[in-house]
Amino acid sequence: MKYPKLFEPTRIGALELRNRIVLSPAHTNFTVDNKYTDRYIEYYKERAKGGVGLIISAHVMPEVDVDPYPTTFGYPTLDSAAEIKYFTELVEGVHQYGAKIAIELSPGTGRLADELIEGKPPLGPSEIPLLLMPTMKTQELTKEEIRQLINSYGKSAGLAKRAGFDAIYIHFLAYLGDQFLSACWNHRRDEYGGSLENRMKFLRDCIDSVRENVGEGFPLIVGLALDHGFPGGRELEETIKIAKLLEPLNIDALHLRRGSYDAMTLLIPTAYMEDGVSVDHAHQVKKAVNIPVIVDGKLSDIGHCEALLCEGKTDFIGMARPFITDPHWPNKARTGNEKEILHCIRCMECIDRVFFAKYSACSVNPEYGREYKGPITKSKNPQKVLVAGGGAAGMTAARFLAKRGHDVTLMEKSGQLGGHLLEAAVPSYKKGTKQYLQWLVRQVMNLPMEIKLNTPVTADLVAHMQPNVLIVSTGSTPFVPQVAGIEGKNVRLATELLVNYRDLEDNIVIVGAGLVGCETALFLREKGKKNITLIDMLPVIAQDVIFMERGSLLAELERKEIKQKTGLQLKEVTSTGIVVKDENGKEESIKANTIVMATGLQANDSLFNDLKDKVTVDEIYKIGDCVAPRKFIDAVHEAYTVAMSI
Ligand SMILES: Cc1cc2nc3c(=O)[nH]c(=O)nc-3n(C[C@H](O)[C@H](O)[C@H](O)COP(=O)(O)OP(=O)(O)OC[C@H]3O[C@@H](n4cnc5c(N)ncnc54)[C@H](O)[C@@H]3O)c2cc1C
Ligand SMILES: Cc1cc2nc3c(=O)[nH]c(=O)nc-3n(C[C@H](O)[C@H](O)[C@H](O)COP(=O)(O)O)c2cc1C
Ligand code: SF4
Repeated sequence: MKYPKLFEPTRIGALELRNRIVLSPAHTNFTVDNKYTDRYIEYYKERAKGGVGLIISAHVMPEVDVDPYPTTFGYPTLDSAAEIKYFTELVEGVHQYGAKIAIELSPGTGRLADELIEGKPPLGPSEIPLLLMPTMKTQELTKEEIRQLINSYGKSAGLAKRAGFDAIYIHFLAYLGDQFLSACWNHRRDEYGGSLENRMKFLRDCIDSVRENVGEGFPLIVGLALDHGFPGGRELEETIKIAKLLEPLNIDALHLRRGSYDAMTLLIPTAYMEDGVSVDHAHQVKKAVNIPVIVDGKLSDIGHCEALLCEGKTDFIGMARPFITDPHWPNKARTGNEKEILHCIRCMECIDRVFFAKYSACSVNPEYGREYKGPITKSKNPQKVLVAGGGAAGMTAARFLAKRGHDVTLMEKSGQLGGHLLEAAVPSYKKGTKQYLQWLVRQVMNLPMEIKLNTPVTADLVAHMQPNVLIVSTGSTPFVPQVAGIEGKNVRLATELLVNYRDLEDNIVIVGAGLVGCETALFLREKGKKNITLIDMLPVIAQDVIFMERGSLLAELERKEIKQKTGLQLKEVTSTGIVVKDENGKEESIKANTIVMATGLQANDSLFNDLKDKVTVDEIYKIGDCVAPRKFIDAVHEAYTVAMSI
């Protein structure tokens, strides 16, 4: 076997596991009224079936009387025996496929309270500002309230054991538990505050309460932040001390991750960040204590994971998002089918959607969250389908249509499949996107369909071919404002430059600081180009970038010394640079050797408009960027929905 250490059967305390692979907690928001649904349970079952060793459930609330927050994420609650049935359904489903499951119990939310409930002020270890509403503060928990939280915590753990869970995961990261542990948030003067030992009392009391309810020997995993990732937050040295103080308490494993809600991308790293962000810190803790360690945070290269285990840097490999993109990656890696693994592109859409109270969804795996609909079945009425355009949308549609047994022809105007994926995948930090592109091309190549490159679909071609169904996925093309000088030799398109940058000199102005402009700037810097300036009409840059990704992108632009000028509209391109004007009409000249246009994309919908009113085909659909230029998630989900409906 290629990865003997990863697939070595092992244990966490008394718990026997089939391998060292852990599904890190990942809340999908697939609950209804804070209860697991079929949608949620089938999502987990698919991962169990895919070969994971241990699943750690996402956040579960042990009580909602003292601390009923957060209100928007729909975390399940386990506070009475009446709830057991939902949890048992989950546990039994997972066990059926040989995986084990721990429950992530969080003793409260504290300063991470979200939409406020009237008459229920958020409570914290101390009076501290709410992260999301800094003008509001938590009220300090009374000792009686702390006692109630601890009792509920243990009771919930007992219920979890009755429901069939294999281990209790004590969640002391970011939420109330971490707030008690950390001097930056815990300013109490009683036995729960002050010294580290005192700040740990809440954790010790929770552990004791769990033990009273589950008994000795029942596996316990403690989840801690390695460091918080902001000035004044906890640093690694103190986490090592915490781990040492936990050692006598018979903890069976530690789950260690860097970050906090204040440094969210350290916890859930973006494409712009390095792989394995938490590994070195976790290793420092592992060396200091004799407790097995689970680490996660942008780990997906399986060879790298095997090496980390062999070098003793960690005992278990945790992953969250790679299980979203591919529930079966462990089985694929174990059986030598690694090329079949669909990797995560680290785009943050899945978590962004949870934060905005939506069901989580994935940019590259449209089946995530739809496992409950069952496996893909063959169409009873196979159609002759023509897919026009071989970008993300067209390839995804063709893939699912072919799986459903339709007679599919995929036609692509250019000589290559991929569309904008070809450009998006170029920068080194987009290696996940490159893997996705290669994976998608391989998938369509290996399915029964006809693929024709260098074949633009036209109205005449459709009339000649006479498909029953036409799917138009002709994507988008760059939009370029027609100002004086725009035809000059010193003007280049960002999309073109990403695939052919070699002849470029330093001193570059990029007009348009949305995702494409910003990423082009980072890419050119990566290629050693100097003095790069981003210009945008809007007052701030990267406005089209989702919240969960934007901070990380801005930090990277700053780190790479990309200059920014905002509130400036392009007026003219000259032989020595550009002329821009601000909102008051004041003009400014900016010198540059090359002007890169990243001023957006426009829908390429002419084929659809030509055909939509003609009766050449029975059904015609428009998907992806040719509806409006957007993102992979839109292209892929529209493609999936259409393909599954035909
Ligand atoms: C540089 C860049 C970086 C990006 N980065 C990201 C990112 O990080 N995350 C994200 O979510 N989104 C990103 N996007 C947006 C994303 O790439 C698009 O939303 C998505 O690829 C759209 O896919 P599509 O298949 O609809 O269109 P396209 O990718 O435009 O594909 C359309 C295809 O149709 C072909 N075609 C056109 N007309 C015809 C015809 N008549 N007959 C046959 N074929 C035809 C084209 O040649 C092309 O191959 C990026 C875009 C760019 C330009
Ligand atoms: C959609 C999503 C939901 C998450 N929900 C939780 C959660 O409920 N509890 C938790 O401790 N961590 C949660 N996390 C963090 C993950 O457990 C993990 O630490 C992080 O995603 C980094 O691992 P990865 O790079 O393998 O995704 C979540 C992450 C994602 C992407
Ligand atoms: S949405 Fe993006 S970050 Fe989340 S699992 Fe899918 S590819 Fe990865």
